[in-house]
Amino acid sequence: MAKIKWRGGTLLSPVPPALVTCKDGERENVLTIAWTGIVNSDPPKTYISVRPTRYSHDIIKKSGVFAINLTTEELAKAADWCGVYTGAKVNKFERCKLSTEPANEIDCPVLSDSPLSLECRVTDVIPLGSHDMFLADIVAVDVNEDMVDETGKLHLERAKLVAYAHGDYYTLGKKLGKFGYSVQKKKKYKK
Ligand SMILES: Cc1cc2nc3c(=O)[nH]c(=O)nc-3n(C[C@H](O)[C@H](O)[C@H](O)COP(=O)(O)O)c2cc1C
Repeated sequence: MAKIKWRGGTLLSPVPPALVTCKDGERENVLTIAWTGIVNSDPPKTYISVRPTRYSHDIIKKSGVFAINLTTEELAKAADWCGVYTGAKVNKFERCKLSTEPANEIDCPVLSDSPLSLECRVTDVIPLGSHDMFLADIVAVDVNEDMVDETGKLHLERAKLVAYAHGDYYTLGKKLGKFGYSVQKKKKYKK
């Protein structure tokens, strides 16, 4: 297949349409962030890239904390809505009926209906051009009890997570294998 060459662009897909919560002294807000990812394992580090014009930008810059709440099928419409309207004009928690609870390690709400939230403390703010990158330590993870089995294993497949690809939202498709499945030896069954 012949390839068409385009100029550089932001076409990495899929990415998570995460619901990011934030709070400073008097303001609490939630916005949708697709420019996020994991950048280090130990210590666990993440980032979110936020345009300085966003209402949340100033809140996160002042407080130095935020939470990344994973988006499920049930939260998908709220994620889209929170990515269109600004908290400067409307209380998005109320409008989207998003209930919150306090995080454990940071002074910031997490979404009660998200199965997994990453509590993040900003270590660096890196201006990149259109966006500022908030590089952060993941200081705690809050996970729903029903995602964890009796052995302590996390079952994220139960969460019905949503992916975002080139402007569209999807639920995850069928499982193809697990980490290392391409090199795993087939079990030999004894007769
Ligand atoms: C799926 C999706 C992903 C988005 N990703 C980002 C992002 O990574 N960075 C950003 O600054 N804005 C992003 N936005 C836009 C903001 O969420 C949007 O401007 C929002 O209204 C800002 O809210 P605020 O003004 O209350 O902070 C995204 C929007 C959507 C719908």
